[in-house]
Amino acid sequence: MTQATVERTETGGEPPVLAVRDLVKRYGHDTAVDRVSFTIYPGETFGLLGPNGAGKTTTLALIAGLLRPDGGDVIVCGHSLRTARRLAQRHLGVVPQDIALYPELTAVQNMNYFATLRGLFGAERRRQVEEALELVGLTEHAGQRVERFSGGMKRRLNIAVGLLGRPRLLLLDEPTVGIDPQSRRHILDAVRSLAAAGTTVLYTSHYMEEVEYLCRRVAIMDHGRIIAQGPLDEVRALAGEAVVLRVPWRPALGDGDMDASQLRNVLQLPVETVDSELRIVLPTGAGQAPEVLNALVRLGISVDGLRIEAPNLETVFLALTGRALRD
Ligand SMILES: Nc1ncnc2c1ncn2[C@@H]1O[C@H](COP(=O)(O)OP(=O)(O)OP(=O)(O)O)[C@@H](O)[C@H]1O
Ligand SMILES: [Mg+2]
Repeated sequence: MTQATVERTETGGEPPVLAVRDLVKRYGHDTAVDRVSFTIYPGETFGLLGPNGAGKTTTLALIAGLLRPDGGDVIVCGHSLRTARRLAQRHLGVVPQDIALYPELTAVQNMNYFATLRGLFGAERRRQVEEALELVGLTEHAGQRVERFSGGMKRRLNIAVGLLGRPRLLLLDEPTVGIDPQSRRHILDAVRSLAAAGTTVLYTSHYMEEVEYLCRRVAIMDHGRIIAQGPLDEVRALAGEAVVLRVPWRPALGDGDMDASQLRNVLQLPVETVDSELRIVLPTGAGQAPEVLNALVRLGISVDGLRIEAPNLETVFLALTGRALRD
């Protein structure tokens, strides 16, 4: 596999909020996190992108101090997890991938409960609970029991819980998986507002569009390792010749009856379907487009409105690993 790390170019002179140094976590013979290092500076939204099983959640659990590493260290706001775990954890807000809420309580009762655990009381608790619910767009549902919430509303409340105590560093683990577009919008907006207000965010996802939208610096993880990291533009440039062919995709209107994995097999190229669109990676560039378009037409797929897009993080991942990010 190509080792392609773009050197960090900016420091801003400020001490980092998070420094991850040669972090290692093993499960038996498997190394879930393999010498992972990256640094996040104040106010940044840093993207950690990787497919299922890459090691993102394990990395976050190590940073949160929920798992002990087999090697390396994590420094949060100058405090080492090895020597000053409690001090380091005080600066962290953690939003886990799995929802951790009490379904029989209302949103505000859940918030109050977790706020108390965070040492918040009285007017300060009320202020922070209201502020966090507002940020994720749940003010109107504050009195509703969580068991009646949609999946997206639960995720938003999960994020609001992570904001209690106003942590300097917020760890978000795939906050938009499997939710409705409205909740997704709320979450992306909330992350942007937090960043604008100075919160540093580690945003984990396997949706490259979200990472490209939110983050200026990113790391791409695969099989426990960081395979590329740096400013977005520099990481994108690692894709080399590859481009993405985007074709409108309306199976309901007669665009064939194949799904993405069948198309992948037929075309022998990485294919994904996103928002009524087929995205096909052309590893050697736009010159491959005519051949692929002919194949699509033969399969009964109308190709009007096609676009060819410059390399994005998906293409980078393909170029470095030979696999599609979403497989
Ligand atoms: N408690 C555990 N015991 C054994 N293996 C584990 C454990 N937790 C994680 N793993 C393994 O470690 C690897 C990394 O898993 P992890 O959950 O960190 O990946 P991820 O990038 O968060 O994936 P996903 O996108 O599916 O959430 C996987 O191969 C997983 O099977
Ligand atoms: Mg995970």
